[in-house]
Amino acid sequence: MKINSNYLNLKESYLFSDIAKKTAAYKESNPDADIIRLGIGDVTLPLAPAVVDAMRSAADDMGVKESFKGYGPEQGYGFLKDAIKAYYSEEDGVELEADEIFISDGAKSDLGNILDIFAKDNTVLVPDPVYPVYVDTNIMDDRKIVYMSGNADNGFRPLPDDSVDADIIYICSPNNPTGAAYNHAELKLWVDYAKKKGAIILFDAAYEAFVSSKELVRSIYEVEGAKECAIEFCSFSKIAGFTGTRCGWTIVPQTLVYDGVKLNKLWLRRQTTKFNGVSYPIQKAAAAVFTPEGRAQIKQNLDYYKENARIITAALDELGIWYTGGVNSPYIWLKCPNGMKSWDFFDLLLTKANVVGTPGAGFGEMGEGFFRLTAFGDRERTKEAVERLKKLLK
Ligand code: MLT
Repeated sequence: MKINSNYLNLKESYLFSDIAKKTAAYKESNPDADIIRLGIGDVTLPLAPAVVDAMRSAADDMGVKESFKGYGPEQGYGFLKDAIKAYYSEEDGVELEADEIFISDGAKSDLGNILDIFAKDNTVLVPDPVYPVYVDTNIMDDRKIVYMSGNADNGFRPLPDDSVDADIIYICSPNNPTGAAYNHAELKLWVDYAKKKGAIILFDAAYEAFVSSKELVRSIYEVEGAKECAIEFCSFSKIAGFTGTRCGWTIVPQTLVYDGVKLNKLWLRRQTTKFNGVSYPIQKAAAAVFTPEGRAQIKQNLDYYKENARIITAALDELGIWYTGGVNSPYIWLKCPNGMKSWDFFDLLLTKANVVGTPGAGFGEMGEGFFRLTAFGDRERTKEAVERLKKLLK
């Protein structure tokens, strides 16, 4: 038996595991340290009451013979797909067919799994800095990866370069890690480029619920032509606090045809073979997110995180520190003060302020010298972290 030796080409461990290990080691030798975690983008507010009620009532259904459910429909329950369809139509003016929506256990899994339906000799184009999942999953398959540089000059929104060839293009907007978000015209350039190159765009919309500016898009399908060149991934994690509950969706339009084959058909074949769906109580809970009650409750949570972002960015303004994000995004991407390197700033913050963030260098070469803070923390802890930051850097 031979192992998949491509795994040996990966970094020793996943970025967030590294951070967790470093933080745990520091805590072990400094047990009294009161550590505030603004590193991994994990939510802190509990699930909305409407969501919990739906989950509870679905659990009751599972205990009664008449309403018990075994295997669910392959692409997800109709009630959830209809709710997602209506969400796209109302929020984004995008019309979808139910069979274009696939319910999943989250965007991260599907972003990795989708690669099953693409040849291994495709060239992949990713931004740098980048969410590590896009890179690592392609290293596992030994695909050629080309990087496009995100930097302060292009606002961390790199645009297509015709001289670069690509088959698979990753776009995350609003972006993880930089918080930068493409506008409609910029995404249209990407759609035109993908069509010209015969490439597919994998559009990660996990943070779409944070978009409030009118000129920005929430779904790539708001851009004309995107249904012929883009798959969209989304998740309830950041919209509705499902990081520990697990539910998301992937849109594979029927109009995506490559090598004369519909990608929708291939993805359905892949999913029916390797995936048995998300549990009924979780799908019920997810559907409750889109009820009027659920939407009002979720808006309150999103507003809470947006206010955290405002508190963090106000402190950075006060300190004169350059950043992107924080508006239309739960991430704040800042330039490390005094030309410090990302991991040096991580160590400084951890040891002198007991605040944990994410070193930009962990997201790629272009992230060196930058640092990411998340607005998903608890309000009082975020305020406290900001005070410590000011004390340290003023
Ligand atoms: C992050 O911190 O980048 C996120 O938690 C990543 C994710 O959603 O998987």
